[in-house]
Amino acid sequence: MPVQPPPAAIGMAVADVDTPALLVDRPAFERNLRRMADFAAGAGMRLRPHAKMHKCPAVARRQIDLGAVGQCCQKLGEAEAMVAGSIADVLVTNEIVGAAKIARLADLAGRAQVGVCVDDAGNAADISAAAVTAGTALDVYVEIDVGGGRCGTDPGKPGADLAARVADLPGLRFAGLQAYHGSAQHICPFDARRAAIEAAGEKVAATLEALDRAGLACPLVTGAGTGSYAFETASGLWDELQCGSYAFMDVDYRKVHDATGAIDATFENALFVLVTVMSRNKPGRAVVDAGHKALGNDQGMPAVAAEPGSGFEGATYAGPSDEHGTLMLATDNWMPPLGAKVRLIPGHVDPTVNLYDWFVVVEDGIVVDLWEITARGAFR
Ligand SMILES: Cc1ncc(COP(=O)(O)O)c(C=O)c1O
Repeated sequence: MPVQPPPAAIGMAVADVDTPALLVDRPAFERNLRRMADFAAGAGMRLRPHAKMHKCPAVARRQIDLGAVGQCCQKLGEAEAMVAGSIADVLVTNEIVGAAKIARLADLAGRAQVGVCVDDAGNAADISAAAVTAGTALDVYVEIDVGGGRCGTDPGKPGADLAARVADLPGLRFAGLQAYHGSAQHICPFDARRAAIEAAGEKVAATLEALDRAGLACPLVTGAGTGSYAFETASGLWDELQCGSYAFMDVDYRKVHDATGAIDATFENALFVLVTVMSRNKPGRAVVDAGHKALGNDQGMPAVAAEPGSGFEGATYAGPSDEHGTLMLATDNWMPPLGAKVRLIPGHVDPTVNLYDWFVVVEDGIVVDLWEITARGAFR
């Protein structure tokens, strides 16, 4: 697969990194990983972080080193990249539809422990047939709609009925329930976010009761994200956490409130886009080399992470076009030198990472590692 050469070399000063580049602040990244791993271990929860955010086997391996049971993937291509990167246990938290994809899925199950979600009996039968043909076995999770209104059967009896069908199909093991409430993650007020997960918990409980009535054991309930994991854990209904963004964070996640009403500061910004001032001809403005093609702006603009004394303090990022962005400086009386570099905090981490081939890992102003983002663009 063609990739761009890395924008940096190990040992280089960050100031010399070519831009735009994705920087991982290694100490902050490590602290984030340990905070989540410690939380999960302390609460007796399994942690299966989501690779849709980082798309990088090196990140996955570090999470597994710290106790994660494997990885979640949103797309089959991501799962294939993870398995190629030596990740032995992947759960595709999504429905896989279509003969060619299902054949790839069944084949992948011959190279790793593979789980997949279903919300349709016909789809489960197709996966079963492909697994039998491939001579493999898959863990199948019945996805229930716990409030997000996206994929998933209705909770209660419909979920249990589908689980019974799955349990009867050759090549499939009914592995549990997928119960992820995506639209709850970014509800800023703490109480409203908690209420959304409590409502999701009622749907999980109704499905567990229906499974029980049908005499089917539910091995596992999996779900949760960075905004909600504490609530799923407190409910006692979920067994496994699928959080992804906590490892890097972004502007959007730093709007979510904790129980005191303050911005939740549990996790730190550990990912930055390094950009260069490429033109400055108007007072109070500087043009940088990163626009929509270098930043995921779907949830809002990036923030400027100015080094103290850099002159960029108080600047904001605005008006991106494809390959340009404008820094609105805090003063008209200072112009940055051409070639000055500044870090941006991505507005939304997942689509930003998906634009890059490399993480440039930095510590104390020096490049200490380069991690290839091998699942970048793997959306099939
Ligand atoms: C199914 C599923 N699980 C977990 C996550 C991780 O969520 P977050 O990145 O908010 O932690 C996502 C994110 O979209 C998801 O779709």
